[in-house]
Amino acid sequence: MLVPLPAEAYINGMNDAAAAPLIDPFARPITYLRVSVTDRCDFRCVYCMAEHMQFLPKAELLTLEELDRLCSAFVGLGVRKLRITGGEPLVRRNIMGFFRQMSRHLGSGLDELTVTTNGSQLARFATELVDCGVRRINVSLDTLDADKFAAITRWGRLPQVLEGVAAAQRAGLRVKINAVALKGVNDSELFDLVRWCGDEGHDLTFIEVMPMGDLGNEDRLDQYWPLSDLRRQLAERFTLIDLAERTGGPARYVRLHETGQKIGFITPLTHNFCESCNRVRVTCTGELYMCLGQEDRADLRAPLRASDDDAALVAAIRHAITLKPKGHDFDYSRQTVAGQMTRHMSHTGG
Ligand code: GTP
Ligand code: 5AD
Ligand code: SF4
Repeated sequence: MLVPLPAEAYINGMNDAAAAPLIDPFARPITYLRVSVTDRCDFRCVYCMAEHMQFLPKAELLTLEELDRLCSAFVGLGVRKLRITGGEPLVRRNIMGFFRQMSRHLGSGLDELTVTTNGSQLARFATELVDCGVRRINVSLDTLDADKFAAITRWGRLPQVLEGVAAAQRAGLRVKINAVALKGVNDSELFDLVRWCGDEGHDLTFIEVMPMGDLGNEDRLDQYWPLSDLRRQLAERFTLIDLAERTGGPARYVRLHETGQKIGFITPLTHNFCESCNRVRVTCTGELYMCLGQEDRADLRAPLRASDDDAALVAAIRHAITLKPKGHDFDYSRQTVAGQMTRHMSHTGG
């Protein structure tokens, strides 16, 4: 017997809850889900967390079984790329069990299962990640200077991360290094980072620092290193070939003709990419954030816990997607910080 669907399931003009893809009000298909599985992290990066964070009590968190149900519902709704984030995702207890569960969707709905990590736990988990069908990972690493690394991450130690990256590579994972571009911090290391990634065979993506968290406005402006400037510096030494290829993420890539390596740019400030946004984020408590740079969110935990049946959950997801904002309002162009989010980046996993 056909069970009548809740009214929201008719959104997008289709009445088949399972088959209708998620399309937002700006005609953007939502095919990429980023899931933050924990708010905890073993580092305290200055642009991502406060030094003394209040973490959520365990009872607030979705269990791994609940996260499984939630992610599976999104896959049923057309999500093809699943990125596990945090906090630091690999510090959550039994996270490998979760990866293993998610791997069942690969090839039947899901094209890619991947993770963004600070690298600290990779030496332990790289092989298992490969076993779970992960092929490519993103590792956050802003500097190769051990002292600067300790200063940026507060609690991190560079050798541990470099060992993790090496273990990932040995296990057969393709590594992309994410470096937040920070004036006065890693601007002097641009060519060292490029050379190291080239030598090691890693892709490298630079990210403009976004105004998230409780850092003072002036600090953000002081740190901001526009990628237009970084790109110009690169072009003085290398021939940059724009690449059309896309990973489904926000980065735009170039190839350095002289070395053959790939460099990405994530430019929320100098070049807004919201028009092609394809993603939403779920936090470890089941909040669905429709945009990284806006407050709009929907509670998925209540419908998830209300019933074993997914109808209410699916209806809540569909309704939330109809409310996805056009984009962020981050802006430093008037020498002040606009569009700041008070929540930390670690809340939604970037
Ligand atoms: P690839 O699959 O390698 O393309 O990864 P990705 O860029 O989708 O994921 P990653 O976790 O490496 O993202 C890097 C950073 O880009 C995030 O942590 C954010 O800081 C930023 N970013 C990702 N998506 C968005 C977005 O939708 N809006 C904005 N403003 N920034 C984003
Ligand atoms: N601005 C830009 N990128 C950030 N990240 C964390 N905080 C910020 C910020 N304020 C990056 C991390 C990591 C990813 C998850 O987000 O370096 O690569
Ligand atoms: Fe998408 Fe919002 Fe990021 Fe823009 S800022 S790309 S709309 S999540």
